[in-house]
Parts: sequence; C-alpha cells; structure tokens
Amino acid sequence: MDKLLITGGNRLSGDITISGAKNAALPILCAGLLTADTVQLSNVPHLQDVNTMLKLLRQMGLRVEQDDDRYSLNGAAIDKCEAPYEMVKTMRASILVLGPLLARFGEAKVSLPGGCAIGSRPVDQHIKGLQAMGADITIEAGYIHAKVKKLRGARILTDMITVTGTENLLMAATLAEGETVLENAAREPEVTDLANLLVAMGAKIEGIGTDRLVIQGVAKLHGASHTVIADRIETGTFLCAVAAAGGDVTLKNTRGDILEVALDKLREAGAILTTGSDWIRVQMSARPKAVSFRTTEYPGFPTDMQAQFMALDCIADGISRVTETIFENRFMHVQELNRLGASIDIDGHTAIVQGVDKLIGAPVMATDLRASASLVIAALAAQGQTLVDRIYHLDRGYDRMEVKLSAVGANIERVK
Ligand code: EPU
Repeated sequence: MDKLLITGGNRLSGDITISGAKNAALPILCAGLLTADTVQLSNVPHLQDVNTMLKLLRQMGLRVEQDDDRYSLNGAAIDKCEAPYEMVKTMRASILVLGPLLARFGEAKVSLPGGCAIGSRPVDQHIKGLQAMGADITIEAGYIHAKVKKLRGARILTDMITVTGTENLLMAATLAEGETVLENAAREPEVTDLANLLVAMGAKIEGIGTDRLVIQGVAKLHGASHTVIADRIETGTFLCAVAAAGGDVTLKNTRGDILEVALDKLREAGAILTTGSDWIRVQMSARPKAVSFRTTEYPGFPTDMQAQFMALDCIADGISRVTETIFENRFMHVQELNRLGASIDIDGHTAIVQGVDKLIGAPVMATDLRASASLVIAALAAQGQTLVDRIYHLDRGYDRMEVKLSAVGANIERVK
C-alpha cells in the first residue's frame, strides 16, 4: 500500500495547475447515460474515483474513449441498468446513475450505499424525489430497484439540501414528462456545472445557480461538448498548504469566485491573496492567525475544506472553534493531528483548536479523502518526517498531489 513520506519545513514557491473538479466530473460522466449521442468532455481530472465511475459506466455499455484529460462518451449501446454492490461500496457517488438510468430506460437496479467514515449518509431524498416523479421503488437484498413507464414532472422539496440528490433528480427531470420544480436545491458550483452541460445537451432548465430549479422535460437529449469546472476544493487545499508552510504560489486554471468564503478566511489568517480570471496567487510569510468557522452548504464554508483549515489552525496564533454541521462524524483527522502535537478537543459538533508553536512529524493514518489532505498540510508545516499511511483515500480525489507539491518545493515522496 502506498504511503507519503513528507519532511516538513520547506517554503513553497512556483506554480500549480489545478485539475477539473472531482465532484463535477462524477455527475457529468453519469450524464453520458442520458443520450445515445456523443458527449465530449475536457479537463476531467486523473483520479481513482473517475476511474471507478468509468468502470461502472463501461459495464453498463457506455463507450468511452480517452485522450489525457479529454473523454468521449457514447451511450448508444447501454444494455445493463445495474450498479452492483462491489462498485457502489467503493464509491458512493455511483448512486448518480440512478436518475439518468430511470429517466432514459425506465429501470435501474443500484446497490444501496452503506454508511461511510464521515457519516451515515442515507439516500432517502434521492428515492423520495424519484417516487414523487412516479417511480415504483423497492429496496430488497441491499438493492434499490426502480421502475417506471415514464417519469413525470413533480414539485419536489427535499428535507435538507443535498448535492448528489439535487444532481440525480435534475438529471432525471430532464427527460420526464412535463415540469419538475426542485425546491431547496443545492447551489454548489458543481451542480451548476452539471446543469450547464445538460442545457448544452438540450435540457430546459431555469434557475441554474439558485435553490429553485425548474425543468421542462424534453423527449430526448443530444450530444454536447463541455469543459469541467476547476476543482475549488483542490484549490483551497493548496492555498491552505501554502498558508501553513509559508511561501508564494500561483494556482492556475482556477477561479476565486467559487470559493470566496475560503479566500476570506485565508485573508483573516494573514495570507495575501490576489486573483485573476483564471488564477489565484497566495503569499504567506508570517505565522497564521487562528480562524473560526462553521461549515454550511454553498455559498457557506464547505465541509470539504474543514479538515484542511483545521490543520492550519493547529499551528496558528490563538484559539479557534470549528463547527461541522453537514456530516455527523467528520472529525476523524483530529486524533491524527493531535499525534503530530496539535491541541484539539472535541465538544459535540465543535472542535476547539489551541494553536501550538510547532508540530512534530510522526506516522499518521489517513481516514478519508479530506482528512488525508489535512494530514499532508500539517506534515508540510511540521518539523521532521511524517509518514502518511492509507493514501488511497487521497488518490481518490486529488490529481497527483505529491507531484504538484514537490514541483513547488515540498519535500514529499510516494513510498511503497
Ligand atoms: N442526506 C440525507 N439524505 C439524503 C441525502 C443527504 O440525509 O438523501 C444528508 C447527508 O447525510 C448529509 C447532508 O444531507 O448529512 C448533505 O449531504 P449531501 O447529499 O449534500 O452529500 P453528498 O451529495 O453525498 C457531496 C459531495 C461530498 C460533499 C457533500 C457536501 C459528491 C460526489 N460528493 O456528497 O464530497 O462533502 O456533497 O458538500 O459530490 C468529498 O469530495 O470529499 C466529499 C465527501
């Protein structure tokens, strides 16, 4: 199993090119199921989760051609509307095939995802929404069996804001009969990116970027070309790395307007940030100041950046309070950060971080994707060597992170 060996203390300087967003690419690949025509994608990130999704889609009969970050998908020969347990258990985002399969083929059999390290993460809202659109859904032997002659438009108000729930229902609604209104829709930029592709494929969607999406179903969607939006979480992760280790780095192929709240918090921590239309420069020369925050849905502070900011708070001047409101168990990194010498206490959904002068390298274990990123950030700022184990979590969602970090001067290597 691969590990990362990191020797902390190097300042970071140079350029990093940001990849396409994982959480946009995954639903967008599933949108290839909605048409028999060809969908051309570019800026698709090189990630384990993307490989897993493509394996699943190929198994259903989707034809896929790849040239570096460009993919061509053709859904003319889909002949299997099933997502087996073996695939769904490795990646919960597999649930995103449910809406498209049901909408185009009138049936789908998708393994029910189990809980995961960060929370129980049910998919009841996806199911409730599809039922409101007329689907007959039963859950048997761990599988969601869904059937419908033709989905019909409905007004759907989800109990909470759900990102993949919105995406599943949005894709389903594009081919439903009549009008669907999604109230309380997620406004994450990745949802918007998917909606933009769907419109390019012929879908009729109003309210894109708002919490009320109105979709007029069409009989068919056609092919389109689309460039996947920049990964705001990868962007934010590298910004935190520079803020923790110190340095001067320009992130290219990304945008500041999709992570404003994180940029504000970094400025509060003492980083100097300048932004252009497709780049962000971060400069940091002093010890960071502690920043408190509370995770919420977009445009609030993203839960996917919580662990990385906590790593920064570990070495900051002052005490911070970090409250997680989206997932019930997303503090698995706390014990590992404490092993590096951090001083973090948990009180319910809030972590209280007392900044320390320095962290000292140690062997640590990655527990989920963003937790892994926080350990890398802490290790870059720590004295001595840190060995991060179980980095398969990192490979699921970061495109060659160690290659990008060593190019800006980090002492980081992948070891077997
Ligand atoms: N929820 C339900 N029922 C549902 C759906 C959601 O109770 O049917 C709850 C969840 O348990 C959670 C909250 O609603 O407490 C929000 O969950 P959401 O559905 O928005 O999360 P998701 O769609 O499963 C996506 C991202 C996550 C990201 C969250 C929140 C993808 C593929 N995944 O998950 O990304 O943390 O939204 O922004 O888009 C990551 O990239 O590391 C990651 C975990």
